[in-house]
Amino acid sequence: QGLHSLFVAAGKVYFGTAIETNNFNDSAYLAIANNKNEFGMYVPENSQKWGPIQPAPRQFAFASPDAVAAKAKANGQMFRCHTLTWHSQLPTFVANGTWTRDTLAAVIQTHIANVMGHYRGLCYSWDVVNEALNDNGTLRNSVFFQTLGTDYIPLSFAAAALVDPTTKLYYNDFNLETIKAKADGAVKIVQLVQAAGVPIHGLGFQAHFRVAQTPSQASLVATLERFTTLGLEVTFSELDIAQQLPTNDTSLQQQSRDYVTVVAACLAVPKCVGITLWQFTDKYSWIPSTFPGLGDACLFTADFVKKPAYSAVASFL
Ligand code: XIL
Repeated sequence: QGLHSLFVAAGKVYFGTAIETNNFNDSAYLAIANNKNEFGMYVPENSQKWGPIQPAPRQFAFASPDAVAAKAKANGQMFRCHTLTWHSQLPTFVANGTWTRDTLAAVIQTHIANVMGHYRGLCYSWDVVNEALNDNGTLRNSVFFQTLGTDYIPLSFAAAALVDPTTKLYYNDFNLETIKAKADGAVKIVQLVQAAGVPIHGLGFQAHFRVAQTPSQASLVATLERFTTLGLEVTFSELDIAQQLPTNDTSLQQQSRDYVTVVAACLAVPKCVGITLWQFTDKYSWIPSTFPGLGDACLFTADFVKKPAYSAVASFL
């Protein structure tokens, strides 16, 4: 038994984790990650992002994400792909380029054609556009928005649909679960793409939460249903629940309840297909380096011991 097999038995498609090739030399890590009953889905944590995968014009670096895809295949796990059009982790040639509408559109289309083309048929889903929104629901002032306005979003989905009609095309963002104005903005993005006659299949809720500030199950369900009503499937795409360090028994118990809340919300929404952890061990979590003072966000300790939240989720399932 493991989280994936339990989640599938409960009717869902996958329970997965972010992983990266720099984790591959850690045998204690792999003993857990290779178990497809525990994690039935991998997503590369960084290596499919634009900067790592196309660092210079038409120079592609596929070795690392290919190794993640190969490991998923060898283990019989699914593969989620992340991400194409995103303002962050861009190569300097894109971030600092001088663009016209036509030249930037062509660069986006070339990127999507090559990267998605390389993984054609391998990805359950692709995060086509990531984090386009400000918290107030307006579009972030990225190089893409500055040059192409809102058009860059349907343009990216249209390019993606042309390259791989077998994969599900997602919009992915954070704070949609906690800030209504931002979820309103995501609804507008979905409607913008749909009005252009372009496919969009899913909405990814990153679910980077904080202990004791995780939304209630009812609130999560209501937010997910705003998007299933628009015809989309939904997922919690990057789940972790961070807390102030040092932690104590009380905060770990609250973290257990918060993880169960998220899992229960996905179970309560038929079109919530799965959950992906943004790493399963505190050893490799991005939280402490990005948010100093916070940590202890994952289901396993840095020593690969199952935390109370792991047991709570497993017994809930
Ligand atoms: C993070 C990675 O975990 C870090 O290793 C990296 O330094 C920065 O990016 N939203 C996303 C993810 O969509 O790609 C981010 O991943 C976390 C926030």
